[in-house]
Amino acid sequence: MIMNNKTVITQFILLGLPILPEYQHLFYALFLSMYLTTILGNLIIIILIQLDSHLHTPMYLFLSNLSFSDLCFSSVTMPKLLLNMQSQDTSIPYAGCLTQMYFSNLFGSLEIFLLVIMAYDRYAAICLPLHYTSIMSPKLCVCLVLLSWVISMLYSMLHTLLLARLSFCEDNVIPHFFCDISALLKLACSDIHINELMIFFLGGPLTVIPFLLIVVSYIQIVFSILKISSTRAIHKVFSTCGSHLSVVSLFYGTIIGLYLCPSANNFSVKKASITMMYTVVTPMLNPFIYSLRNRDIKEALVRVLIKKISL
Ligand SMILES: *[C@@H]1O[C@H](CO)[C@@H](O)[C@H](O)[C@H]1NC(C)=O
Repeated sequence: MIMNNKTVITQFILLGLPILPEYQHLFYALFLSMYLTTILGNLIIIILIQLDSHLHTPMYLFLSNLSFSDLCFSSVTMPKLLLNMQSQDTSIPYAGCLTQMYFSNLFGSLEIFLLVIMAYDRYAAICLPLHYTSIMSPKLCVCLVLLSWVISMLYSMLHTLLLARLSFCEDNVIPHFFCDISALLKLACSDIHINELMIFFLGGPLTVIPFLLIVVSYIQIVFSILKISSTRAIHKVFSTCGSHLSVVSLFYGTIIGLYLCPSANNFSVKKASITMMYTVVTPMLNPFIYSLRNRDIKEALVRVLIKKISL
């Protein structure tokens, strides 16, 4: 690292959310309950899928992975936000900031990969039902999940290492509630061209290609549904794919919203609420979207509870 006569930043200050002081307590209670709901909802999904052998199918194993990723994703940002809302000292050490950035990128991109895998899984189940078990072999499932982890870790590590090269000057105030990569880049006073190029050439495709793959999978699914004449079959397909589509649109809708947002220098209320949407609200809603509309999950819950009571 080249250090000229610049001061070395050892910590950053997180400004947090643009909330008026009189509403701090209200929002604290709201965010705390949202975070607890996220933890509880996703834990229930993971435990249920582990306990019930009927749910040991690729679709539910992927769902369990998504729940795990959701749980981690919101645990990267929420505890620090809640802590900062309660204390006067909202600083975060340099290493802590980079760690937070690493894990938020890691679980964010893992989430995207899992959504693609789940869309592909539904495509195989609905469009190629006769070959489904041979396509979605346990080995392939494990490979796909592992590959998602490896790519997400490498991608996130690359950004973190590129950011660690940068030097920061006097300004260490992050107008955000967590160490977001774009907020950190704005504070850097060395050349950030490589970082921006990497975001554009790796981050862009990493968000757009999965999105296109998901869209293509669901278009195929819709076409094959249109060929089915039985209304019961159509209903069943819609009940599983409907929940997938809601999750995908929730996640991508907010990310697209963030990019279409005019990049104002200060952290606006609009940007804050959109970021809150995909870091907090989506992970919280995923388990409910999947389980409330899903009969398999409800039946599994009843089975597991009956087993527990009769023991
Ligand atoms: C994630 O998916 C893999 C492959 O289907 C499965 O073996 C594993 O148990 C899942 N992990 C979790 C935490 O659900």
